[in-house]
Amino acid sequence: MTLKIVGFAGSLRTASYNKKLLRVAAAKANALGVAFEEIDLSGVPLYNEDVERVGFPVAVQKMREAIAAADGVIVATPEYNYSVSCVTKNAIDWASRNPNVFTGKTVAIMGASAGGFATVRAQAAIRPILASVDALVLPTPEVRVSKAGDAFDADGALKDAALDGAVGKLVARLVSEIQIRKAGK
Ligand SMILES: Cc1cc2nc3c(=O)[nH]c(=O)nc-3n(C[C@H](O)[C@H](O)[C@H](O)COP(=O)(O)O)c2cc1C
Repeated sequence: MTLKIVGFAGSLRTASYNKKLLRVAAAKANALGVAFEEIDLSGVPLYNEDVERVGFPVAVQKMREAIAAADGVIVATPEYNYSVSCVTKNAIDWASRNPNVFTGKTVAIMGASAGGFATVRAQAAIRPILASVDALVLPTPEVRVSKAGDAFDADGALKDAALDGAVGKLVARLVSEIQIRKAGK
């Protein structure tokens, strides 16, 4: 059966560098024969337990179902004030609610930032968050895009071949870990 990976970028803006990076990863997954679905977070409201008691909002339910049905997840997070963006954290918070749809999921993280530090701090910050939801996060390879305003060409491809190769290696490792874990079941 075809493997399925889902992913989201923790940014709502249309021209988001993290959305571009996610789409580079999506193409790598497709090239390996793996289906990829990008989760749209634009309709996901801020987490509110009062709302949750009434029922998950439609966009939240859609996001949760997509993650639950996936074999693996890719998270492309921006860095906001030395941590993950609120959009990234909010999505994980909604996904973590009973039942936690991240439990046991194999997850790859990546990030793009406009500055020079390339989401180093955001990626360090997201690891304990994903540990708290019982996800298995790949340790390497690390994919960090700095100076993202110059990193992509007009077609959305990464200009730097080494960086593009790192995305390919990360996706290949994600697929391989998923296959190993499935075979072990
Ligand atoms: C509130 C806020 C805080 C930010 N803090 C950081 C930061 O700590 N480190 C960094 O590298 N970039 C920071 N940036 C710049 C982001 O890297 C930049 O906005 C980037 O384009 C966000 O990702 P996106 O293109 O996917 O939306 C910040 C941006 C915003 C709006």
